[in-house]
Amino acid sequence: MHLLFGVVGDPVEHSLSPVIHEEFFRLTGLEGEYKKFYIQKGMLKEGIYNLLQAGVTGFNITIPHKTDIIPLLDKIDETAQKIGAVNTVKVENGKLIGYNTDAEGYILSLQKVDPDFTKKSFVLIGAGGAAKAIYYALIKNGVKKLDICNRTLKKAEDIIKEANQSVTTSKPLSFTELEENINAYDVFIQTTSVGMKPNIDDTPLYLKHFNGDGKIVSDIIYTPSETKFLHLAKEKGATTFNGLDMLLYQAALAFRIWTGEMPTIDTAKELVMKQL
Ligand code: ATR
Repeated sequence: MHLLFGVVGDPVEHSLSPVIHEEFFRLTGLEGEYKKFYIQKGMLKEGIYNLLQAGVTGFNITIPHKTDIIPLLDKIDETAQKIGAVNTVKVENGKLIGYNTDAEGYILSLQKVDPDFTKKSFVLIGAGGAAKAIYYALIKNGVKKLDICNRTLKKAEDIIKEANQSVTTSKPLSFTELEENINAYDVFIQTTSVGMKPNIDDTPLYLKHFNGDGKIVSDIIYTPSETKFLHLAKEKGATTFNGLDMLLYQAALAFRIWTGEMPTIDTAKELVMKQL
């Protein structure tokens, strides 16, 4: 059977997903292709109808449709429902089922660096869509100590409130409060766009009083491969990693939802790095 998958969004021209999934086809020996489907905001319903006509049985959803897809689904996975964003859709007997693999993708990238992460004390930097997804994934995986630092405090408070009180100790923090209490955390997760290309000299924190020994500092940005924030953390002795593994794992988890096969990410990662 020839499988047809793709990524739906606007813009999609620079998406790395085709390179990743073509490699997954090669690794698993499955026959298929992964295309870019350009669909503008407001045109999602018509666009999806056309994809189904063309025989697509699985697709990723990116900006600006991650929330707009929800009313068009027949079923939604519990985590995606809580996060309020879908990045993967499976077509089963003509029905659309929505998932979110971004969140679990981050967890797999963290697990690779620290298999024993659940007992650690976490701070999320940022309170946008990506932060919300990772917040839920951390709770689901048993993390109990988890604060959120954001420029707009209200957005951090909203994520904590909506999470159904399962993490009662979560606190919203300003950047000043976090800088003052920087050594209280074991794992840092930077989810804002600060420091992303082309603004590579920007950083959300300066880590002046930070002791990085035994600490893990991650950034979901992967262009540049090392943000200023990660660079500062590394200089202070922390173990650091960027968002590339999260990108690859969210793709591998989507591929597993569609095909039942979980591909390894190493060779796809090499191909992606050549394109960055
Ligand atoms: P995403 O879905 O990628 O997480 P988003 O929902 O637009 O994107 O969220 C962007 C995040 O980056 C927010 O936490 C935002 O902070 P605010 O909630 O205060 O807007 C944060 N962010 C963006 N630019 C920032 C900046 N210059 N300084 C600090 N935080 C910034």
